[in-house]
Amino acid sequence: MADGIRFFQLNTGAKIPSVGLGTGLAHPGIVGEAVASAIKAGFRHIDCAKFYGNEKEIGSALRKLFNDSVVKREDLWITSKLWCTDHAPEDVQDALDKTLQDLQLDYLDLYLIHWPVSMKKGSVGSDPENLTQPDIPSTWKAMEACYDSGKARAIGVSNFSSKKLGDLLEVARVPPAVNQVECHPSWKQPGLHAFCKSKGVHLSGYRPLGAPSKGYKIEVLKNPILNMIAEKLGKTPAQAALRWGLQMGHSVLPKSTNEARLKENFDVFDWSIPEDLFARLSEIEQERLGKGTGFVHETFGAYKTIEELWDGEL
Ligand code: A2P
Repeated sequence: MADGIRFFQLNTGAKIPSVGLGTGLAHPGIVGEAVASAIKAGFRHIDCAKFYGNEKEIGSALRKLFNDSVVKREDLWITSKLWCTDHAPEDVQDALDKTLQDLQLDYLDLYLIHWPVSMKKGSVGSDPENLTQPDIPSTWKAMEACYDSGKARAIGVSNFSSKKLGDLLEVARVPPAVNQVECHPSWKQPGLHAFCKSKGVHLSGYRPLGAPSKGYKIEVLKNPILNMIAEKLGKTPAQAALRWGLQMGHSVLPKSTNEARLKENFDVFDWSIPEDLFARLSEIEQERLGKGTGFVHETFGAYKTIEELWDGEL
C-alpha cells in the first residue's frame, strides 16, 4: 500500500506538510492567484521569503482566503526567510515583524536564515561590495528570540552545508528544525541528507523539479531514468521527482503558477515508487544547479570560492 507521506514531524513536535508551494519565481501580479489556486488544490504549505518581493500580495491572497472561509490560518503552514541584509541581531525582529505585516499574519510556522551570507543593511542588488562577514551565532540568538516570542513557531536555516549546520548546532540553544536546500534527483546531497537525519534536522528541498524554465544544462525533468520510471508508473516526470523527495524523507517545494500543474504536483500521495525503480535513481548524474556564485568574491564577504561557500559539498 502506498504511504501517503502528507507530513513530516519536526524536532519541535510540529508537523510540516510534505508538499509546499514555492513562491520564488512567482512575480507580483501572479503570485496571489497561484497561492489561491494551490490552496484550493489542497496545498497547505506556502514557502515565502522577503527576498522574493511578493509577500504583500501573498498576504492579501491569504486574507481573502481566510475571509471567504476557504481555509483557516491554523490549517496552513507558512514559512518565510530572513534576508542577508538583516543579519545584525538588532535587525532580525524588525525583519520578522515586516514579513508578518506584509503577510498579514500574527506568526510564522517557520522562519529561516535564507543564506549563510551577510550583506550591508539596506543594500540592494548583487554588487559584491555589499557582502560582509556573517556572524551566524549572533544572528541565531536573535532567531531564538523570535522563537521564544512565539512569532516564529519553528526556526531553521537554508543553504547551509553539513559543516555550517554542524557549527550552528554546537552553539544553538534552540536547534534548527529545518535546513532548506536545493534537492532533486539530479542533486541528491547524500552527505547532507545523512547529516541532517543524524541530527534530527528536517531537510526541505527547493527547486525539486530542477527549475525547468531557468535553462540549466542539466534538465532534471528530461532525465531518461526519471522518465522511464514515470512512464512505468503512469505518472509525469515532475510527479516522479516529487515522490522521490517524499520517499527520501524530504518535504518538497515545487513552484508553479499554472492550475493544472499545481494539481499535478499535489497528486503524489496515493501511489509510490517501488524499491527496484527507486534504486535506479541512484544512477542519475549529479550537479548542483544553483551554485551561489553571487555570494563569492576574492575580496568581499566570507567566501572566496564556491568550495568555501558549500564547504566542498559540490
Ligand atoms: P509553471 O509555473 O508554468 O508551472 P522548481 O520548483 O524546480 O524551481 O521549478 C519551477 C518551474 O517548473 C516553473 O517554471 C514551473 O512553471 C515549472 N513546473 C511546475 N510544475 C511543473 C510540472 N508538473 N511539470 C513541468 N513543469 C512544471
